[in-house]
Amino acid sequence: MQEFVQPSQSTTTNCTREQYDADYARSIAEPDAFWLEQAQRLDWITPPTKGGEWSYDPVEIRWFADGTLNLCHNAVDRHLANKADKTALIFEPDDPDGKVRKLTYAELHGEVVRMANALKAMGVTKGARVTLYMPMVVEGVVAMLACARLGAIHSVVFGGFSPEALAGRIIDCESEFVITADEGRRGTKPIPLKANVDAAVDEHETPVKGVLVIAHTGADIAMKDGRDHWYADLASDEDCPCEPMAAEDPLFILYTSGSTGKPKGVLHTTGGYGVWTACTFHYVFDYQPADVFWCSADIGWITGHSYVTYGPLLNGATQVIFEGVPNYPDHGRFWQVIAKHKVSIFYTAPTAIRAMMREGDGFVTSHDRSSLRLLGSVGEPINPEAWRWYRDVPGEGRCPVVDTWWQTETGGIMLTTLPAAHAMKPGCAGLPFFGVQPQLVDNEGGVLDGVAEGNLCLIASWPGQARTLYGDHERFVQTYFSTYKGKYFTSDGCQRDENGYYRITGRVDDVINVSGHRMGTAEVESALVLHPRVAEAAVVAFPHDIKGQGIYCYVTLNAGEDGSDDLAAELRQQVRKEIGPVATPDRIHFTDGLPKTRSGKIMRRILRKIAENDYGSLGDTSTLADPSLVDRLIEGRVDG
Ligand code: PRX
Repeated sequence: MQEFVQPSQSTTTNCTREQYDADYARSIAEPDAFWLEQAQRLDWITPPTKGGEWSYDPVEIRWFADGTLNLCHNAVDRHLANKADKTALIFEPDDPDGKVRKLTYAELHGEVVRMANALKAMGVTKGARVTLYMPMVVEGVVAMLACARLGAIHSVVFGGFSPEALAGRIIDCESEFVITADEGRRGTKPIPLKANVDAAVDEHETPVKGVLVIAHTGADIAMKDGRDHWYADLASDEDCPCEPMAAEDPLFILYTSGSTGKPKGVLHTTGGYGVWTACTFHYVFDYQPADVFWCSADIGWITGHSYVTYGPLLNGATQVIFEGVPNYPDHGRFWQVIAKHKVSIFYTAPTAIRAMMREGDGFVTSHDRSSLRLLGSVGEPINPEAWRWYRDVPGEGRCPVVDTWWQTETGGIMLTTLPAAHAMKPGCAGLPFFGVQPQLVDNEGGVLDGVAEGNLCLIASWPGQARTLYGDHERFVQTYFSTYKGKYFTSDGCQRDENGYYRITGRVDDVINVSGHRMGTAEVESALVLHPRVAEAAVVAFPHDIKGQGIYCYVTLNAGEDGSDDLAAELRQQVRKEIGPVATPDRIHFTDGLPKTRSGKIMRRILRKIAENDYGSLGDTSTLADPSLVDRLIEGRVDG
């Protein structure tokens, strides 16, 4: 096991080791009392008297069920009393010479009201699903909050998904409204957001009746009469009160990939999610009122929901919203932004850290990082080498690093160290947050105690837990609660060491974590087999220096067809069209067959080992229908 690293800078702290020990024990022994107390971080219209009411068999989860509140009020309006002039958002555009836009809480309130009025004018009401397909701009956050204000359910679709993927998500949650921008821009590259919305809505049977378009780049785009509206034409400053919501009313749907079938619409509700994001933000980032926080995630992912839109604003924090990419105009862009806006807490993904590490320290050290006091990592396992570099070079050896493990389904951070309370271990997420009860089990469900490696389950509910999959509770039950009855199964492998620290080893299902983004192998396979020359496809992960994992595709072609570089390029294009650039295959391996058992089941274990270049441990191949295929697959392995 790795060494302990003591936090070398003693921060003003929201939690000492003694407090953590006492509060953690209490959060387990008296969860309702503990969480009803934490719920007071929010303003309630009707304060809740009930804590958790949940069961994992049958699956039914409620928190604070008799409380009512509005999260937009909590993120914006309530700060007007004493933080009206405090900066809420600092927008840093893609172009480093572009215009920085700062909004106080009072100005943010004005924007949210204008957006909410525009949505109302389109016909958005409480409970309506509203799809957002947006660049990383102020209006993205504003649109999420405006939905929350009206009680509408937002479903944000990452701008890197294709029109096909967007259409699938619109149709699945029967969303009648879309909010988008003319174009996005990342590293000077324009992203045709409105054109993609047109393709999604015009080429599919969707229920969309209103599209709200934000003028961002000023690009010339087509507007469809009666359906498309410029934001500026519908926005108005009229009074627009916050809709009172029951704690268990839905707040948002966020689609994420699973090991089978189409993406799942993970549903989060208002009260529990609000309490979880507000509370984790306060403790994990040891948030102090003078901090400038920056989470580099896009609002299209859960990290952007919980630690861009909700967590920081519920705490009345000042934060940076960044439109660009880490390598434009050069590899020092993140550190330049940190110096420019005096960021004190920075939260990013291991992929970005590894990519920057490769470019050399000069891109970091040429920028002033004296404002930084805390660094965070999220989204995928961070290798100890990258962890140490992050801490020593950007963090100058004085900033604690929190390696936070969580998932779309958990709503917020679950395993982490707390900056001043716990020593850190490079590569280890750390300890359970308040109320989190991890358990490691073997493949048969046997509970593993002490130092162990196994499948990570959570055996008690927490307020931020997803409640269901939109429109498919049975799939929710099957996916998360059926492998180990009575437990939430995370699908992650995990080790626990002698200090009780948890280290996530990665997914144990057919989900690939590419640059911290979840990709279902089944989705990529479905996209590949749509090509008329493809007979069959099997997709697995392989270790990738920068992305963590890459996408390796085994493809068999129809009789008489031969593989070629051109066809590989076509297949890549096919996947980009069906899912989006985020899912672009790294390697395409044409083969004359896939290893199957005599009953026809593809032996993915073998395909994974070959993709990983690990032939020593292929295991038993004697049950294969065609054992000689393995040698041909090894010979044909695609490298680079
Ligand atoms: O495998 C784990 C990995 O990311 C998965 C969840 O992905 P998603 O729902 O997209 O949420 C990502 C942002 C929270 C997990 O099942 N993961 C996330 N954080 C870590 C991690 N793996 C190791 N260490 C982490 N800190």
